[in-house]
Amino acid sequence: MRSKLYFCKGEIAMQKFIVEGEKRLSGELKIQGAKNSALPLLAACLLTKNECTLKNCPALSDVYTSCRILGSLGCECRAEGSTVTVRASDPCGCCVPDDLMREMRSSIVFLGPALSRTGECILSFPGGCELGPRPIDMHLAALRRMGAEITEKHGMLCCRTNGRLKGTEISLPFPSVGATENVILAAVLADGTTVLKNAAREPEIIDLAAFLNKCGARIKGAGSDIVVIEGTAEIGGCEYDVMPDRIVVATMLAAVAAAGGEISLIGADRKTVDAVIPVFEQMGCGVYSCSDRLFAACNRPLRAVGTVRTMPYPGFPTDAQAPVMAALAKAEGTSVIVENIFENRYSHAGELLRMGADIRTEGKVAVIRGVKKLYGAKVRAADLRGGAALTVAALAAEGTTEISGVKFIDRGYETLEKQLASLGASIKRETIK
Ligand code: UD1
Repeated sequence: MRSKLYFCKGEIAMQKFIVEGEKRLSGELKIQGAKNSALPLLAACLLTKNECTLKNCPALSDVYTSCRILGSLGCECRAEGSTVTVRASDPCGCCVPDDLMREMRSSIVFLGPALSRTGECILSFPGGCELGPRPIDMHLAALRRMGAEITEKHGMLCCRTNGRLKGTEISLPFPSVGATENVILAAVLADGTTVLKNAAREPEIIDLAAFLNKCGARIKGAGSDIVVIEGTAEIGGCEYDVMPDRIVVATMLAAVAAAGGEISLIGADRKTVDAVIPVFEQMGCGVYSCSDRLFAACNRPLRAVGTVRTMPYPGFPTDAQAPVMAALAKAEGTSVIVENIFENRYSHAGELLRMGADIRTEGKVAVIRGVKKLYGAKVRAADLRGGAALTVAALAAEGTTEISGVKFIDRGYETLEKQLASLGASIKRETIK
């Protein structure tokens, strides 16, 4: 596999970002493909008889892990630059190795398609960033309703189906993104029609359905809370462009809000960040869209916002919470964030305190009192978006910030330091000796 990925099999060197803050951002940036779309799309390739080519696929460690999972299931996967090609004409494996399952939470979206394509899948519980308990009960209950026999023993899941999975009606207790994807993926080759109620409405679900339909699947309603999937015996392959990453867009808006300046984000799809833009406008930034670009100008001291509540789409995305908190750390007045999706998503707040922020968290709630200045410090990223938040804060801080735990940031951002440096930030990556 040829790619520009930082992470390969074997030992990974520990790396850090060194950021000199208080440099205004300016210029334009092409928005990378969406990680949260690319991963389920790679899982979807497992259902296809013919070659699939995913373009605009971000070069990320999680994409590489997905390719290795496909390899363990007997598929060919090649990554070259931003193009990933998958051949799943004859998947012959049914076991996903434990180290790959532990690598990322979304390894679980391989269960639905693996089961449906080969009738058997053995895997362990998924890992991923620590954001509190992240159960997979909804995934398993839905697949069981479709006829899968699943036994859980010693941390392993042994899943089988007698013939094709069966289309049925499934109602999710919460619009889980991953469970919605797993049901859609399992239902494409199922016998009969699946009606999924209380489905997640995220744009990445629409992207997944569009890809599968291009391959010959029959999915209607993606993007609404009822998705209907008419099962079919087989689907082909296709060439598909992964959608732009709306969380990277939100992160870049937070970066320019924190550092000040004017940037243009090429390929940003405004409607996917509709819930995020008003927060930046309240902070005092101007955000405008024109064809496939989003312009942001932040030339005044930031103002605090009211209460930001994370919600399932189309609400404010939990993945943008941390970078937005970092920008709010220097906004005049008091802002409140309520994190409704994950139980433990404030690990970045403690690190922001080291940089001089005034943030108090209790349970779901974070109260951010804007400070006049943030200061460079040595901080550690403990999860992907938390790491992005520390980088945003470092851009606004006086002096030098060293951010360790860059491997978490690399899970979702394609060389974040290069993206920000292209906008004028002073940031570099160093290997920790
Ligand atoms: C996806 C995104 C992640 C984002 C999250 C919420 C990918 C690869 N990841 O994660 O970046 O933060 O959506 O927008 O797309 N839950 C259960 N039981 C389940 C499934 C989920 O209790 O079986 C809970 C989770 O613990 C969490 C909530 O539901 O509290 C939302 O999780 P979910 O929407 O499933 O998120 P992911 O698909 O894991």
